[in-house]
Amino acid sequence: MELTAAFVKFQLAHLHHLFALVCIVVVVYKLSTLLAKRARTLRVTEAFPGPPRHWLFGNLLQFKEGKEFENILKWSQDYPYIFPVWFGPFVCSFTINHPDYVKTILSSSEPKDDFAYKFIQSWIGDGLLTSKGQKWFRHRRLLTPGFHYDVLKPYVKLMSDSVKTMLDKWERYATTDEPVELFEHVSLMTLDSILKCAFSYDNNCQLESGKNEYIKAVYDLSVLVNKRARNFLLHNNFAFYLSPVGYRFRKACKVAHDHTANVIKKRKEALKNVKDLESIKKKRHLDFLDILLQSRDENKQGLSDEDMRAEVDTFMFEGHDTTASGLSFILYCLACHPEHQKLCREEINQVLDGKDTMEWEDLSKIPYTTMCIKESLRMYPPVPGMSRKLTKPITFFDGRTLPAGTQVGTSVFGIHRNPTVWENPDVFDPLRFLPENVSKRSPHAFVPFSAGPRNCIGQNFAMNEIKVATALALKRYHLIEDPTRKPKILPRLVLRSLNGIYIRIKPVEPEV
Ligand code: HEM
Repeated sequence: MELTAAFVKFQLAHLHHLFALVCIVVVVYKLSTLLAKRARTLRVTEAFPGPPRHWLFGNLLQFKEGKEFENILKWSQDYPYIFPVWFGPFVCSFTINHPDYVKTILSSSEPKDDFAYKFIQSWIGDGLLTSKGQKWFRHRRLLTPGFHYDVLKPYVKLMSDSVKTMLDKWERYATTDEPVELFEHVSLMTLDSILKCAFSYDNNCQLESGKNEYIKAVYDLSVLVNKRARNFLLHNNFAFYLSPVGYRFRKACKVAHDHTANVIKKRKEALKNVKDLESIKKKRHLDFLDILLQSRDENKQGLSDEDMRAEVDTFMFEGHDTTASGLSFILYCLACHPEHQKLCREEINQVLDGKDTMEWEDLSKIPYTTMCIKESLRMYPPVPGMSRKLTKPITFFDGRTLPAGTQVGTSVFGIHRNPTVWENPDVFDPLRFLPENVSKRSPHAFVPFSAGPRNCIGQNFAMNEIKVATALALKRYHLIEDPTRKPKILPRLVLRSLNGIYIRIKPVEPEV
């Protein structure tokens, strides 16, 4: 008996040793591959000088909250084409901030990186934004009809309705001197609008009391993704899973996924007896979800349930948060520049001619307002950065080459504020977008919607919505800067402000 117990004890002790040995081998292997990767990257950086960095934290310590763009601007001046940024000891992203460089990367079909995009994948799945190769190609082809002009046209009325609800809520700010925090109001409006337009789903989210659960979840998710990117100990999936940040991320993901699942479920029920898109068209406008549910490729294959969820999550997020950022900043810019606001209002009143709603035909009749919107997208790009991972070496116009496996970021913010590309880049000047001035610049100097094969599929949708909302807001209210509250801009998944985006408003008196 005693002998058997001793034998078991001996075996257990050996098992422990074996386990410890396996762990050591795994750690040594992992560490040596990481060190080899670091050595390779360091060799590449010899041709690409960049800002000084800490051996362990890299440049992470320079990215203090609220100071991120200061560094990007300084580095863009010191290294006006591209520079390496280290996220800890092993992850390095070569950040492009010049049109001549970005042209090469955006015109390629290189996939998104497996760093930043990996952090949002458990939320938005393998949808159009994150997928690659054949899958991305097939889905892009299936979804493109969802943004055809015939589909977008009826959305203008729905967008106007959502905007009017928001502007009605602003009455109380117009009659008191209380400032309005734009991002909160505008993101509820853009959520309401994407739900109505793309998913024919009316949930009155602008009028419900308290914070909207989905909007709150999207906000939490973007903060948590950023926390993860800044802390290299959380880059590993397992460590992230066990961390409090990972726990909060999973909780917020569940809220976002429940919201989308509910939208899909309701539509599937409604479509039970519907055979084709033509019969839907007879009853109501065709929306993006109809196109998703009915889409078939040449082999008559539709999207799987999982792919469908990923696309709905992607469009729900991309379709409201980016536009909310763009719209909040144009309203803020116009509040800061009453002279441009006045010119926009005159143009809008002339086009609306007493109507209180925007129509499809009106969208192309407000060129001055459109230039102001573009200038705001230049100064405050809603998607401040994006990133790819090279599958093959890439050579830039000056002969410098980055090898396969390199992570290449694009700082949209850096390009849009690069002083070698834009004169007085920090000055709001809509005339930069006069056709004669545009023709003098590289088409890659202004890339708020990216460019090339992976450009933004929703850019017309977004521009239409921003035009409708800007026009109706200016028709009804004077926008006034609050000099005591300047936004401190932050690069999150979309451009946000640490201290909100505040303006004051006053009613526009009707002309007599
Ligand atoms: C002002 C608003 C918007 C801006 C500035 C914007 C910007 C961008 C940018 C820069 C990209 C490329 C991202 C990357 O390479 O990682 C992108 C991709 C994308 N956007 Fe937008 N977007 C806006 C609105 C929208 C809207 C309203 C929708 C949908 C209704 C949308 C759907 C998408 C999708 C699905 C992709 C991925 C496309 C692909 O890779 O094929 N976006 N957007």
